[in-house]
Amino acid sequence: MYDLNVSMLNDQFNMYYSAARKAYDSGNGALAKRNYMLAAETLLKLAEHSSPKLKQARLKRARRLVEIAENIDAAVVRKSFPAGNAEGGEDGEEGGRSWAAAEIPDIHFSDIAGLDDVKKAITVRMINPVKYPEKYKLYNKKMGGGVLLFGPPGTGKTMIAKAIACEVGAKFYAIKGSDIVSKWVGESERNIDSLFETARAEKLAIIFIDEMDSLIAKRGTDTHNDKRVNEFLQQIDGFSGRAPNLLLLGATNRPWDIDGAALRPGRFSQKIYVPLPDAPAREFMIKKSLKNTPAAADVDIAELVRLTEGYSGADIEELCDRAKEDPLLKAISTDSVVPVTRADFMDALKDVPPSVSKKEVERFEQFIKTGE
Ligand SMILES: Nc1ncnc2c1ncn2[C@@H]1O[C@H](COP(=O)(O)OP(=O)(O)OP(=O)(O)O)[C@@H](O)[C@H]1O
Ligand SMILES: [Mg+2]
Repeated sequence: MYDLNVSMLNDQFNMYYSAARKAYDSGNGALAKRNYMLAAETLLKLAEHSSPKLKQARLKRARRLVEIAENIDAAVVRKSFPAGNAEGGEDGEEGGRSWAAAEIPDIHFSDIAGLDDVKKAITVRMINPVKYPEKYKLYNKKMGGGVLLFGPPGTGKTMIAKAIACEVGAKFYAIKGSDIVSKWVGESERNIDSLFETARAEKLAIIFIDEMDSLIAKRGTDTHNDKRVNEFLQQIDGFSGRAPNLLLLGATNRPWDIDGAALRPGRFSQKIYVPLPDAPAREFMIKKSLKNTPAAADVDIAELVRLTEGYSGADIEELCDRAKEDPLLKAISTDSVVPVTRADFMDALKDVPPSVSKKEVERFEQFIKTGE
């Protein structure tokens, strides 16, 4: 009876937690918030049934989830333009919203596990034209056009965008499709317009649009969306073929929802799949997470690499973080060094299931094959 209760709570926790992650990833902040709170609540109940050691860890994690829930509005929307004038956007002011670049991120390609093909394609397409414009001219190599990264959540798409900005020293304009979409007629188009205008004025800028699918969904069902898509296509056409002082990068978990015209040559013609990490990439991430961390000799990296098949990069980060929680708490309470053990990882594996299902992966494979 007791065990049954615990295992039910465990299932419940996993359900709320993955629902929260999913909602967050799809930009539904309110739903994510609610599910994070429910997950935290369930964790508190679970803590009541836990050994003192586990109880502490669960209480701490519950607190963290509440923190995440509380911060979600800020995290999901308006992440990178603190100077954005929300009022200007709301009352339909002429120029559209004002945009401010985020600081140039400190993330390098060498921080990103695996994805060698992706890095190569990005280097050829976005980094080299900026670094070696004369060479590209000499070979009369085409420049411009955008790149669309697509793949399951938590696989490093945003990381790649930041790494590009860092590698070429570009001003980084990161926005979410849902930020641009305004409920006011005509406002979205002005927002798009003002975003491109602002970025173009920079010596070198990168516009990173997350959730491209919500910005330029397939046309034909919603006139607001259709106008937005048209404006967006005009903007991309406006800068393609010119010197690449503006790099355009999009990301999406739902490439099949994007309007086909946006994916034509000269626009987002290059679509790059960012898959779940393969075994060497998972090994890289686990090792990196354990670097300079006290770990017991029984931690078997090869075993962990095997057991994390199907995990995303974000899942692995969460898993390692979770495994370190108990030893860290113990280290604090005993004022000593407590190594992370294999058992800590085994507990963490139970708490952190993979967030991407096989079915979702198959959906991407279908898109790669058929283009829809
Ligand atoms: N290939 C990777 N190498 C190293 N870390 C990774 C990798 N993929 C994911 N991560 C970790 O997961 C976190 C989330 O990754 P990121 O935000 O780039 O995912 P994403 O693909 O943009 O997800 P989403 O589709 O949900 O926006 C990163 O901060 C990083 O810690
Ligand atoms: Mg992202």
